Amino acid sequence: MSVPDFAESIARYLRTRDIPAPIEAAVILGSGLGGFAAHIEHPLVLPYADIPGMPQTSVAGHEGKIIVGTVRDRAVLAFSGRFHHYEGFSYAQAATPVYLAQKMEARKLIISNAAGAINTSFSVGDLMVIEDVIRGNQRVSPTGYPRHPYRHHRWVETVRSLAAGLNLSTRQGTYIYAKGPNYETKAEIRAFRRMGADAVGMSTAPELFEAARLELKSAGISLISNMASGVTANKLNHQEVKAAADSRKEDFARLVKALIEQF
Ligand code: 6GU
Repeated sequence: MSVPDFAESIARYLRTRDIPAPIEAAVILGSGLGGFAAHIEHPLVLPYADIPGMPQTSVAGHEGKIIVGTVRDRAVLAFSGRFHHYEGFSYAQAATPVYLAQKMEARKLIISNAAGAINTSFSVGDLMVIEDVIRGNQRVSPTGYPRHPYRHHRWVETVRSLAAGLNLSTRQGTYIYAKGPNYETKAEIRAFRRMGADAVGMSTAPELFEAARLELKSAGISLISNMASGVTANKLNHQEVKAAADSRKEDFARLVKALIEQF
């Protein structure tokens, strides 16, 4: 299955480095989740800046590097720092890690993000397994139009039961893609809730759609980093938000490791 030329040439460069293929899992680390890199053993770090043709990240809180190594003796390729369409990247560029995952023969892809909760029963720090996606008013599919972007693969239940086996409570819900970079208005969030969305974010949809087109086994996980506009009456204190998210980092790592090992 074809990937854009720019991704082919990045993959050719990666093959000149010490990167084993096939890779067991590729992992895209969302905002604030880059700490997972510390769980990767025997790491080889490739800054995006050193990779010819690689798009360069610019968002605060997002590093730009590939970490190659092992987790529980399985080869892993992690992306710390992703490419958002709102930064000016094309949807195809936003899906770069997906193309590289395919080129490095990853058996599966784990896509994480930080998202805002629309579902009023959610709390900051919740981990939500993405069951389905709403593309807001954007098409986001970089190169093709898979009929069944995600849910079709039916791995949501596998992820949920793995989490349950680790005694981790997770949510399950619909992620709505909102291009950003600005957050939504309260009225937009109310509308999104009526559409059936549980969490909102500015990434992940382009990656999931391309992963589906390339028939890569994939799982999407949102860490609820804050409540969306109008969900809580009182403004959340930034320290509380960060603390809540930090408190789930170890659980996030346990879940991702289990997915690398068993999913
Ligand atoms: Cl509230 N909105 C969007 N679009 N992205 C987010 C978010 C909200 N919270 C985290 N990421």
